[in-house]
Amino acid sequence: MDCIVIEGGKQLNGEVRVSGSKNAALCIMAATVLAPGYHTIAGLPMLRDITTMRRILEHLGALVNGTDQMCIQTETLTGVEAPYDLVRTMRASFLVLGPLLARFGRARVSLPGGCAIGVRPVDIHLKALAALGADIAIEQGYVVATCKKLRGTTILLDAPTVGGTENIMMAACLADGTTVIQNAAREPEIVELANALRMMGAEIQGDGTHTIVIHGVRELRPMNYTVMPDRVEAGTLMIAAGITAGDVIITNCPVHTLTATIEKLSEAGCSVEVGDSRVRVTRRGALHPVEITTAPYPGFPTDMQAQIMALLTLAEGTSLIRETIFENRFIHVAELDRMGARIKVERDLAIVMGVPYLTGARVMATDLRASASLILAGLAAQGTTVVSRVYHLDRGYDGLEKKLQHLGASIWRQKEPAQGLH
Ligand code: UD1
Repeated sequence: MDCIVIEGGKQLNGEVRVSGSKNAALCIMAATVLAPGYHTIAGLPMLRDITTMRRILEHLGALVNGTDQMCIQTETLTGVEAPYDLVRTMRASFLVLGPLLARFGRARVSLPGGCAIGVRPVDIHLKALAALGADIAIEQGYVVATCKKLRGTTILLDAPTVGGTENIMMAACLADGTTVIQNAAREPEIVELANALRMMGAEIQGDGTHTIVIHGVRELRPMNYTVMPDRVEAGTLMIAAGITAGDVIITNCPVHTLTATIEKLSEAGCSVEVGDSRVRVTRRGALHPVEITTAPYPGFPTDMQAQIMALLTLAEGTSLIRETIFENRFIHVAELDRMGARIKVERDLAIVMGVPYLTGARVMATDLRASASLILAGLAAQGTTVVSRVYHLDRGYDGLEKKLQHLGASIWRQKEPAQGLH
């Protein structure tokens, strides 16, 4: 198994380009199921999660060509099942449920099960699809959903779930009549999906607000879509610049989606110059402590929480980070502590007492964003850090270590050492 090795202490300098958005790409790929024909999706990041979604589409009978630009032919879909072996490796596989049901009137999709950061149920997805007229049963770990024709209705979500909003939007596009989703998620990826669906002929209004209105249409046509850049990758690179007291220009940057991250980085003592689709992040002085509460968009993203925590371990003072989206998203704390950080967790609150320096250590990535957090800590730490279980990183970051190398970091990938540091 591979690990990432970092010799810390190098300031990052230069320019780096952000790859396409993982989360936008995944739901847009799932949306291809809705319309038979040849879809083209460009700007895809090279990630394991994208490969998993591709395998799911192929399992359904799609013919897929390409990597960063994919041609997905969905004329030939024959299956309606997303099997456990694929869904368990990536929860977003569940996003094919709504499209399958809308196009074929039936779907059999494995329940995702729990994951490292929390229980993550899908009850809201299922309740909403039932409200649209689907019969839903759980059989041998699978959701089995059937319907004659989905019927539009008003759905009030118990929580503004991102995946739930996406599943319902996709299903409602081909329903009879009008669907109103209240308390909808407002994440930029929802707007991206709505843009892609509109390109397919869907009638959607209100995406990006709490109320999304979808007028069902009889059929949709294939799309030719380029996905937006990844806001979490952009934010992670911004923190890499900040934590190393560097000077980095980040291009292809979805600036308008990063307001909360930019605000907190600035409060922490980083200078962020914002352009149209680029930001320049520099830091000269000390890091300041900051208070952060994760929240649905446009609040501070839970997907940036682990990374900003790495930065704040080095602030002059105590930062407070409250995680409100996932119940178990502080697993990286114990690993950061192994590098000399001083963090205390009280339920959903992490109290980060700044230390003057971190020291390199062997640490273990436990989930996608935790692995980025440990790499960021390693960039600033004295000595060598070895981050194992890199497969988590490969799920969601397109060539992160190459991008950091290009900016001057001493970071590389190698086979996991059997024991200790040499
Ligand atoms: C998406 C993102 C993920 C991000 C998260 C929150 C993708 C592929 N993933 O995940 O990177 O961290 O949004 O911004 O886009 N919940 C329920 N019942 C449900 C659905 C969700 O209780 O039916 C809860 C979850 O357990 C969680 C919260 O709602 O506590 C938010 O989850 P949700 O917005 O659905 O996240 P995902 O769509 O899974």
